[in-house]
Amino acid sequence: MAIAGKLITLEGGEGAGKSTQLALLTQQLEAHGSKVLKLREPGGTLLGERLREVLKSPQSKLEPTTEACLFAACRAQLVGEVIRPALAQGSVVLCDRFIDSTVAYQAGGRGLDRTLMEALNRLACGSLRPDLTVLLDLDPAQGLGRASVRDQGQPDRFEVLQDGFHQRVRDFYHNLAREEPQRFLVLNAHQPPEKVAQQIWHEVQRRFS
Ligand SMILES: Nc1ncnc2c1ncn2[C@@H]1O[C@H](COP(=O)(O)OP(=O)(O)OP(=O)(O)O)[C@@H](O)[C@H]1O
Ligand SMILES: [Mg+2]
Repeated sequence: MAIAGKLITLEGGEGAGKSTQLALLTQQLEAHGSKVLKLREPGGTLLGERLREVLKSPQSKLEPTTEACLFAACRAQLVGEVIRPALAQGSVVLCDRFIDSTVAYQAGGRGLDRTLMEALNRLACGSLRPDLTVLLDLDPAQGLGRASVRDQGQPDRFEVLQDGFHQRVRDFYHNLAREEPQRFLVLNAHQPPEKVAQQIWHEVQRRFS
């Protein structure tokens, strides 16, 4: 039986390989008969894609609280309009960033209250939780280096932030993974993409086949 009706999220710092792994996992799942919906946050709805531009643009001046609310608005719309219906129809939903980004970036990186960020996540998602979260762990300097090559030196609003921000994000991700070991698969992202993909696929099959 093909894997169906699961929400799998990819998390990690800038340039860790989330989008790359999302594409590779999609190929594997589709080759094994699953219906796959690929999403990214912020994005995946008309509202989300518009707010993505605001959230990513280095020209945007946003208070940390405003930023947190905009991410939550994108997520609430994505969950209601897209994710819940897709899961109900049996799709495997792959999401490039989700609730853990809010805790890692807005609480860890920006220093907002973690309990409030978790409440925002509950507001946006209700009872919905990922069935599996893959955390791609990489030294921030390496990830930012990869992103900079990819973007030809046009950093977004997060990529321009100093190393301390990205290190706090990484530390918060580690804490989250430690707190929920049954939900997280933590992988060393400093390996060739195909090796990372093999490890993800192995775990997806082990859990859901
Ligand atoms: N395992 C890997 N080893 C080396 N380079 C990689 C690896 N995975 C991805 N890359 C390359 O690094 C760059 C960043 O990868 P990708 O865009 O998948 O990361 P991301 O986590 O989605 O980044 P962002 O946070 O900016 O969305 C790309 O140019 C990609 O081709
Ligand atoms: Mg990406």
